Amino acid sequence: MIHLAPSILAADFWNLGRNIAEAEAAGAKYLHIDVMDGDFVPSISFGMPVIASIRKKTRMIFDVHLMVSNPERYIERFAACGADIITVHVEACKHVDRVIQQIKACGCKAGVALNPVTSLHTLDYIVDMVDMILVMTVNPGFGGQEYIKTSTRKIQKLRERLNELGLEKDIQVDGGIRKNNVHVVLEAGANVIVSGTSIFSGDITKNVQDYLEIFRQFEG
Ligand code: DX5
Ligand code: ZN
Repeated sequence: MIHLAPSILAADFWNLGRNIAEAEAAGAKYLHIDVMDGDFVPSISFGMPVIASIRKKTRMIFDVHLMVSNPERYIERFAACGADIITVHVEACKHVDRVIQQIKACGCKAGVALNPVTSLHTLDYIVDMVDMILVMTVNPGFGGQEYIKTSTRKIQKLRERLNELGLEKDIQVDGGIRKNNVHVVLEAGANVIVSGTSIFSGDITKNVQDYLEIFRQFEG
């Protein structure tokens, strides 16, 4: 199943509630929430109070992407404020296995994210524990960047490896995905598609519907 995960990093924060409601009404089921700490990545975004506020108003699946150093410090608090899926970067954890267990103990689904240059081998001993693997298709930290083309091969290799292992896991892609290149990541094997700029800049309803139509056609 292919899912669309609009990233609120690209939303208009004055109208955040309205933007989210529009994406939900248009049919998006996931909401991608980018938390940045100014240490793991150069920028700072937002944190628990924002997530807790929007949790009261929407039933979307909260897909929280922690671009945060040593995220084990915050897992319980993100779970408490409404995360459904918590994704941590392998590069940001001293003990990735332990952090995944921590996420699951909170009742959340666990994701691991890999920066563009991080090898798929870092997944060797954790892949069967996680629900989702996030293949970063830009260097994390900012919205509106260009898709890094070497990501396509990485997504393909990961899907091949998961198939060899008989594992049905979600592969999420994040960064530089637009309507005109999304077919590349779908063909490579990704099934959870994050998009910020190409959903929240412009007509949100139309953008979500266009993506969902592309997914329907792809799934045949
Ligand atoms: C990048 C973030 C992305 C970002 C994607 O660090 O993780 O989720 O919002 O934005 P676009 O779709 O604009 O590349
Ligand atoms: Zn993200």
